[in-house]
Amino acid sequence: MSDRYETIRTQLEARGQSHVLGGWSALNAEQRSNLLDQIDALPWNEIDHAWKMVQAAPGPEDSSSELEPPELCMPDMAMRDNLRSLGEEWIAAGRVAAFTVAGGQGTRLGWNGPKGTYPATPVSGKPLFACFAEQLLATSRRYGIEVPWYILTSPENDAATRNFFLDNKCFGLERNSIMLCMQGTMPVFEQGTGRLMLSSPDRIATSPDGHGGSLSALQRSGALADMEVRGVDVISYAQVDNPLARMIDPVFIGLHADESVSSAEATSKMVEKTDPAERVGVFARREGRLGVVEYSDLTSAESESAGPDGRLRFHAGNIAIHLLGRSFVERIVGEGQSGLPWHRAIKAMSYWDPDAQRMVDPESPNVLKVERFIFDVLRHAERSAVLAVDRAVEFAPIKNAEGQDSPETSRRLQSDLHGLWLEECGVDMPRDDQGHVDASVEISPLTAMQPDDLHRNDLPSHVDRGASLLL
Ligand code: UTP
Repeated sequence: MSDRYETIRTQLEARGQSHVLGGWSALNAEQRSNLLDQIDALPWNEIDHAWKMVQAAPGPEDSSSELEPPELCMPDMAMRDNLRSLGEEWIAAGRVAAFTVAGGQGTRLGWNGPKGTYPATPVSGKPLFACFAEQLLATSRRYGIEVPWYILTSPENDAATRNFFLDNKCFGLERNSIMLCMQGTMPVFEQGTGRLMLSSPDRIATSPDGHGGSLSALQRSGALADMEVRGVDVISYAQVDNPLARMIDPVFIGLHADESVSSAEATSKMVEKTDPAERVGVFARREGRLGVVEYSDLTSAESESAGPDGRLRFHAGNIAIHLLGRSFVERIVGEGQSGLPWHRAIKAMSYWDPDAQRMVDPESPNVLKVERFIFDVLRHAERSAVLAVDRAVEFAPIKNAEGQDSPETSRRLQSDLHGLWLEECGVDMPRDDQGHVDASVEISPLTAMQPDDLHRNDLPSHVDRGASLLL
């Protein structure tokens, strides 16, 4: 052990990280071996690269090249019909898999468990994972195929996620069509110094490597190979926190498959951003390449400028719904993801101080976490299309415990949407003075995935104010 200790200590000293062994003398044999094993397994080159990269990250004001708004696809009825039939061909041929990223820490929501287990719907309180499982069941029934479902987990929530699916009998889906893929982690840096932090006497603090880490997780877990065997060409990517995200959308898939606009590598959905202050990234082109610019990286001139039609010039809000070609993902991962930059997030985190031999609760943000973002992959696609969709139909995120993008706003958006579907079928729906549906309405994807799926004869003629209706 002492030879191993000396070798590792020398390497750490050369990197300015030997403080992580500062509490060595207080550790027992098992703790010592745990700590050395973990240090040995750390991806040191990537750690050095990530730290350098986040130090050098340009601010919004000093990006050299100009941003341009992207072209958007806003199909009319005839084009939608064409795209839908092409997409349906691909779905029915088993060429599409669903991919839900659910490895995040969900700190803002503060839910004790994986976010996918959060009760999200307005009437039955169905968990997010169940919302997606029902969509996949409905899709499988409609097209007579099993849609494989890959779910990104993290080391912290993988076991809890697995148990949740097993306890719920996979919500009626075939067990072998669901595959959990565990994402990687990166160590957490002390802000300002880059020193690695400890989370306990024998553990270096780590955090998930971001939703961009999902690509290498797909490869490491064998999911990409599994897709190849199943004949999957398209990965339909969405986040776990949006119960209205359409897992398998034929029109969107048709756009991805349409060779006249897409290289079938990366296709995205956008919703209109109307408030310059909304904290949503926007699609934009830089040097001809399509990408997403985070809200914090837009200058105020860029976020507030209006186009000729009076709308925000950069109004194409990213809702983190993408279609990715399997071979495209294989290429990105094969290149070591070198084209995906590291981003930083400054957070407050309790840590173990090895010199003082105690946990410390910081009073202000003290650590820098590094993450990769999925949307950075877009600029590596040759021809990438962006489909404009209606926010009210596809976006009801649950991010915060209260206020904006909270369970309450999400439930209201779900009721508004499903209430509207009923209105379109002739049901008399109560509305409040702000125009919201004044009732809780929930329609399971097993009943309908769109208003056309509803059978008028099965519906009530009206809904009472304040009522709860589950279909
Ligand atoms: P967010 O950026 O909202 O982060 O993730 P979060 O971890 O869920 O929540 P906060 O910021 O701690 O409150 C957007 C989506 O990306 C997934 C999340 O599970 C969510 O679906 N994600 C994020 C991962 O799968 N892995 C990550 O490392 C980060």
